[in-house]
Amino acid sequence: MERKIIFATSILSSDFSKLSEEIKKCEDAGADRIHLDVMDGHFVPNLTFGPILVESLKKVTSLPLDAHLMIEKPQKYIKDFINAGVNLIAFHVEEYRGKKSPAPAEGVYPRTAIDMDEEKLRETIREIRTKGVKVSLALNPPTKFFAGNLADELDEVLVMTVNPGFGGQVLISSTLEKIRDIRSKFSKDIKVDGGINEKTIKDIKDAGANVFIIGSYFFRSQNPKEALQKLKKLL
Ligand code: DX5
Ligand code: ZN
Repeated sequence: MERKIIFATSILSSDFSKLSEEIKKCEDAGADRIHLDVMDGHFVPNLTFGPILVESLKKVTSLPLDAHLMIEKPQKYIKDFINAGVNLIAFHVEEYRGKKSPAPAEGVYPRTAIDMDEEKLRETIREIRTKGVKVSLALNPPTKFFAGNLADELDEVLVMTVNPGFGGQVLISSTLEKIRDIRSKFSKDIKVDGGINEKTIKDIKDAGANVFIIGSYFFRSQNPKEALQKLKKLL
C-alpha cells in the first residue's frame, strides 16, 4: 500500500531571531507541517520553548503544527499546547515506565523503557484525542517497546533515529530495524526524526516510514527549497 509521504520541517535548526521568516521559508519550500521541538532540560539535556511561543507561531502560519514534547510528565502540559493551537502532539513513552523499567538516574540520557503503564498512557492519549488533536507516541532509540494494543487510539508512531535533544546528529542505523518491525504491525503513519538527509532518506522510507522530519538538512542548506525538493525526488 502506498502511503502519503509527509514532510515536516523542524525549526530547531532555524534562526530564532526571525522565526516568522523561517516559517515562511518552510511554506514556500512546500513543507506539509511545522515540527516544534519542545525540550525541558530534564527529559533531554537541552532547553527550547513552550506553549507561549507556539501560540505566537500559530498566528503566522496555516500549516499544521506538529509538536514533539521532549519533556517530563507531558500530561501536565497537554492542555496548554492544545490551547496554543497545535494540531498533533507526540509525547514520549519513556515517561510512562511500568514497574519493570527502572527510573533513570538524574542526568542520564537517553531515557529507555521496556514496559509501560498502559492505563496512564491511555489517559494521556485520550486527553489529546478528545480535543480533536492528533496523537503520536514517540520512542527513543533504545526503547524497544511498541504498544500494539494501543494502535487503534494512535494516529502515528514517532521513531527517534537520534537520541533526542539536538539537531544535526548522525542517524543511528540500528533504528531502521525498529521501523521495519513497527511497520509489520502498524498500518498508520510512522514518523522518523533525526539525521534525515539525501543519504539516509531512501533507506528510512524503504524500512516503512512515511513522515519525515527535516531539521538541519533544510535550514542549514544554501537553498532550502531545492534541498526539500531533492529529498522529495529521492522517494
Ligand atoms: C532532535 C529533534 C529533531 C531535530 C532533528 O531531538 O527532535 O526534531 O530537529 O534535526 P536534524 O534533522 O538536524 O537531525
Ligand atoms: Zn523532533
